Amino acid sequence: TGPALFGDRANSKGWDLTVTADLEEIAQARAPHETLLFNARPVLAGPVAGGQRHEVRNPATGEVVGYVLPAAMPDVQTALTAATPWEAAPAQRAAVLRRAADLYEAEFGTIFALLAREAGKTQSDAVGELREAVDFLRYYADQGEAQTAPARGIFTCISPWNFPLAIFTGQIAAALAAGNAVLAKPAEQTGLIAGFAVDLLHKAGVPVTALQLLPGEGAVIGTALTSDPRVAGVCFTGSTTTALRIRRTMAAHLEPTAPLIAETGGLNAMVVDSTALPEQAVRDILASSFQSAGQRCSALRCLYVQDDVRDTILEMLYGAMDDLEAGNPWDLATDIGPVIDAKAQASIRDYIEAARAEGRVLKEGQVPSDGTFIAPTVIKVNSIADMPNEIFGPVLHVAPWKSGGLSRVLDEVNAMGYGLTFGLHSRIDDRVERVVSQICVGNTYVNRNQIGAVVGSQPFGGEGLSGTGPKAGGPDYIARFTRPAPPPLAG
Ligand code: SER
Repeated sequence: TGPALFGDRANSKGWDLTVTADLEEIAQARAPHETLLFNARPVLAGPVAGGQRHEVRNPATGEVVGYVLPAAMPDVQTALTAATPWEAAPAQRAAVLRRAADLYEAEFGTIFALLAREAGKTQSDAVGELREAVDFLRYYADQGEAQTAPARGIFTCISPWNFPLAIFTGQIAAALAAGNAVLAKPAEQTGLIAGFAVDLLHKAGVPVTALQLLPGEGAVIGTALTSDPRVAGVCFTGSTTTALRIRRTMAAHLEPTAPLIAETGGLNAMVVDSTALPEQAVRDILASSFQSAGQRCSALRCLYVQDDVRDTILEMLYGAMDDLEAGNPWDLATDIGPVIDAKAQASIRDYIEAARAEGRVLKEGQVPSDGTFIAPTVIKVNSIADMPNEIFGPVLHVAPWKSGGLSRVLDEVNAMGYGLTFGLHSRIDDRVERVVSQICVGNTYVNRNQIGAVVGSQPFGGEGLSGTGPKAGGPDYIARFTRPAPPPLAG
């Protein structure tokens, strides 16, 4: 019943987790997939060589969820040779992508099971993720249908584990809607979800020559897929470091005009001034920092609270943190799931321990002792400049609001060079306007949380070290996947 948010189309309706009937529908649809073993393998328009099969384990429980056969180097060659831009008329491609959106929605039980078991996604995150994937399919179908520029050719799409369905699907849908052939390289940690999604896209009618799946290691398969001159463009979401590496590889091997469309990390801040409504600010700090166990590039990393309300807000925040339920995401009541794997857990833990040794841990929540959990944690810093690059977990830093006021704070944040999201809680209209114009980020959120951009109404993407643009889920995105029109003939 929400408003139409793009064109005459509303965003995917999703499920309301406060409604018993919706919860029952989800529980019933997921149930058959609770212990099922899944499999994924390269999907090529040719024979599969494959590498060494590996086991996928549930990060919350350690149970085996399934097996992924990664692609081997010969598979990259097979895929590149077979890849053929999708020749169908734009309207026909759009119809196929819309059919895929319907299939995603119909398969919600399997998708929710996979998101919980392979990626540790809570149910509320899983609902958001499926909706976003479906929205991307429908949004780019509309955009692709409306554009006339030719496809570029073969696009390599490299996606992250933190949105194993939504970002994976969004990249592919944009490239396909524009008529390209796609070679999709999902994150190593979430090959099963990728395999399931590609299967649905093929069932909807995407030709296998237009969409091939190459699960595998970034350093091997990712490098091979970004260094072959037959590749006409790369779409990447992941760390800033990897994006820079991909850019160098592309510069050495690809056509000089081949685009890199990269969405990377952030060091996102929020400012809460003394006119903010404390309850609302606390709710939004909590969601921005700890939802998805902090594993969103949009997540709040560094909080500035004006001195006179600082103690009140922090005390309320610590109370609210005590109420968060951490546990197995299969349980529909879980607020915080695990981080993605033991390696991520170990590195975040080391970071927290180092801060503890310096007496900078202000608050730590509770999590189960088994599984790759990290307790929601608040750490004191003198400035955002003291923070290391993005700590990709449920760790919030609190920095002092220095004398010199808000301008000093904004300068400090801008100086970091990232520019993804920024949050502001304030009731002073002039201040809101000033902050919005002064802060250099892709997405500024005022008096709300700073995560969960909605396709079509909140195009998402950053500046500086946070990404190349154009913003995903926005009107300019698709054009980057097409060849710009040649200049008009002279004379
Ligand atoms: N698009 C996601 C969000 O807005 C970020 O990864 O939270």
